[in-house]
Amino acid sequence: MSLEPARKHLVRLSDWPQEDLDRVLALSRTLRQEARPGALASKSIGLLFFRRSLRTRASFEVAIGKLGGQPVNLTGMSDLWELEDREGSIMDGRAPEHIQDAAAVLSSYVDALAIRPAPAGRTWDIDRKDETIKSWARHARVPVINMESALWHPLQALADLLTLEEELGKLQGKKLSIVWVHSPMAASASVVHSLLLSALRKGMHVSLAHPPSYALDPGVLDEARQRAEESGASLQTFNKLEDAIDDAQVVYARSWMSLESYGNPTLDASHRSRLTDWKMTEKLLARGSECKLMHAMPVRRNVEVTDEVLDGPRSLLYRQAENRLHSQKALLVDLLGS
Ligand code: CP
Repeated sequence: MSLEPARKHLVRLSDWPQEDLDRVLALSRTLRQEARPGALASKSIGLLFFRRSLRTRASFEVAIGKLGGQPVNLTGMSDLWELEDREGSIMDGRAPEHIQDAAAVLSSYVDALAIRPAPAGRTWDIDRKDETIKSWARHARVPVINMESALWHPLQALADLLTLEEELGKLQGKKLSIVWVHSPMAASASVVHSLLLSALRKGMHVSLAHPPSYALDPGVLDEARQRAEESGASLQTFNKLEDAIDDAQVVYARSWMSLESYGNPTLDASHRSRLTDWKMTEKLLARGSECKLMHAMPVRRNVEVTDEVLDGPRSLLYRQAENRLHSQKALLVDLLGS
C-alpha cells in the first residue's frame, strides 16, 4: 500500500486535499454509469458498527459487492468484545480488549476498516475529542474510514457534495441554508459539521439557522470562518428560520443536540418541546430561490419536514441516499483499487 500518511485514513473530509476530494467526486459520477466488477477483487473491507444504521451499512455492503470485494460485517454492539480506547489504561473494568489490539489483529485480515463508533453523549468536552475513531486510525495498519463519529460524518458530506454539484453545478457563490428542525430525539451535529466545512471550502455562501441554545461546536465554527475566508465564501448565523432561507438555492434540514443540555436527555427534551414550530414546510421553502430540500435521513415526517415537501419536487432526499452508494464506491476504488 503506497498511500500518503495524510490521506491514508478518512476521519474527516477536511483533512483531504481538495484535488483528492474532487477526484473522488468525479469518479463517483463515472461509477454511477459504469460497472467495475473487478476493482476490489481479493480485497476485504471490515465494517464495524457500534451504532444503528440503515443507509451507511446497506450502501457500503452493496458498494463492496458491486466492486468484487468482500465485506466483513461486524455489529460491534453484539459481535465484538467490549473495547477500551484509553491509551495506557489499566484494563480492570468491563472491556476485555483494547482497540490497539483489535485494530492490529483486524489489519492482518482486511484491507480497510470502516468504523461507526459507539453512541456519544457523555460530556461534549470528552466526546468532541473523537478519541475512539482516532484510536482506530492510530493503531490500524490499513486505511480507516469514519462512518460517523461524534464530530464528523465524512461519508454523508461526500454524498451531499455530489448531490449539490449535480443539482447546482459549480458551487462557488451558490447559497446553502443549513437549518435546525425540531425532533423529539436529539441527533448528532456530525452531519452538519462535515457539510458546513465542505460547502464553505467549495465557496458556497452558507446561512445557518438554529434556536439560540443550539449553536454548533465553537471549534468547528472557528474552522468554518477560516474556510470561508480562504475560499471567498460567507457564513451568516440567524435565530429565525425565515431569515436564513431567503434566496437559498438549497436548504439542508437537520435536528442536532444542544451543547448546553448535552448528556442530559431530560433537559434537552424539555428545551425541544418548545421548538415544534421549527419545521420545514412548503411555505417556508417558497422563500428560497427555486429552493430544494436536503436531509441526511432518517427523517421524521410531519415533525421535521411535512409530507408535502418530502413527497414533492423540492425533495433531494432519495437522490442523496442513492449517492451514498456511488460516492462510497468511488472512495473505495480510490483508496484500494488497482
Ligand atoms: N445518513 C445516515 O448516515 O444514515 P444511517 O444512519 O441510516 O446510516
